[in-house]
Amino acid sequence: MRTQETDAVTVAYPEHLAQMLDDFIRGLDYGEDAPVSRLSEAMGYSLLGGGKRIRPVLLMATGAAFGRDPRELLPTAAALEMIHTYSLIHDDLPAFDDDDLRRGKPTCHVKFGENVAILAGDALFAEAFTLICERQRDDPAVLLAVMGEIAEATGVRGIAGGQYLDVCGIEGNGPETVQKLHSLKTGRLIIACVRCGAMLSGVGERHIGKLTDFAAELGLLFQIKDDILDVVGETAMLGKQAGADARLQRHTYVSVYGLEEAERLAGSSRDKALEALGRIEGETGELAGITNFIYERQK
Ligand code: IPE
Ligand code: IPE
Ligand code: MG
Ligand code: MG
Ligand code: MG
Repeated sequence: MRTQETDAVTVAYPEHLAQMLDDFIRGLDYGEDAPVSRLSEAMGYSLLGGGKRIRPVLLMATGAAFGRDPRELLPTAAALEMIHTYSLIHDDLPAFDDDDLRRGKPTCHVKFGENVAILAGDALFAEAFTLICERQRDDPAVLLAVMGEIAEATGVRGIAGGQYLDVCGIEGNGPETVQKLHSLKTGRLIIACVRCGAMLSGVGERHIGKLTDFAAELGLLFQIKDDILDVVGETAMLGKQAGADARLQRHTYVSVYGLEEAERLAGSSRDKALEALGRIEGETGELAGITNFIYERQK
């Protein structure tokens, strides 16, 4: 497909980047032979063997769009997947969504106990930054900006703030509140993936602004789709329990707008994301492929 705004050719989801990431994280070592081996085992259990790898793929595809070899971005890509995995482990805990299935397997706390699961999440978060510090070969000023971006995306103005609103309640239950909730709990990290990919390929501020607009729309699309799949998806396919949001009476795009309108909004969000991408110079075909994949995904 060729869009009107750009010559970018839409390609399929870049599976080869997901494969590259999987190979890299399988080789990570957090000290398996130490007395903490069960902690390392819990971290690897949640991190390996499952997951669509959307965040690291997004970082690498953004870098590649501006000429950076995606292999050189693997440490930061892996760090983002580790942080995402930490957020899933904590999201599944009894104090949060109390889920027993994740990525097609019993959740981390079901398998290893709640205390070990909390620590596995904490350790994945910290080891992510260690990985960037030790293995991402770039100008220290760029690395500092990248780590600052990731830290912001996971703090009060990102995952932690969004998860707080999700579990402790947010005033009002209208369209604006649900969009705010989603932009923090999911959207901000997706923005960070794109911005870090751009920073690591030396892209200037002008492009980064446009890329941020694209990523914000993509993040929204991602979570609208997650909300829809919670209602229409099947547990076996999702690899996590369907119907969790209704059970927990959560504010989602489906609870606020109804299923039909949520599906229409997902389509409009996909179109807006592709339009935003069309305004960006660079080889953006893979990013368009990721956008379509997020829209069409069944899990
Ligand atoms: C699920 O994320 C959690 C949300 C942020 C909604 P993904 O759908 O990317 O989960 P995995 O990584 O593929 O398991
Ligand atoms: C979780 O959102 C977002 C995170 C920050 C992990 P959900 O609770 O909707 O994620 P799933 O549906 O359990 O994957
Ligand atoms: Mg949740
Ligand atoms: Mg959940
Ligand atoms: Mg969900």
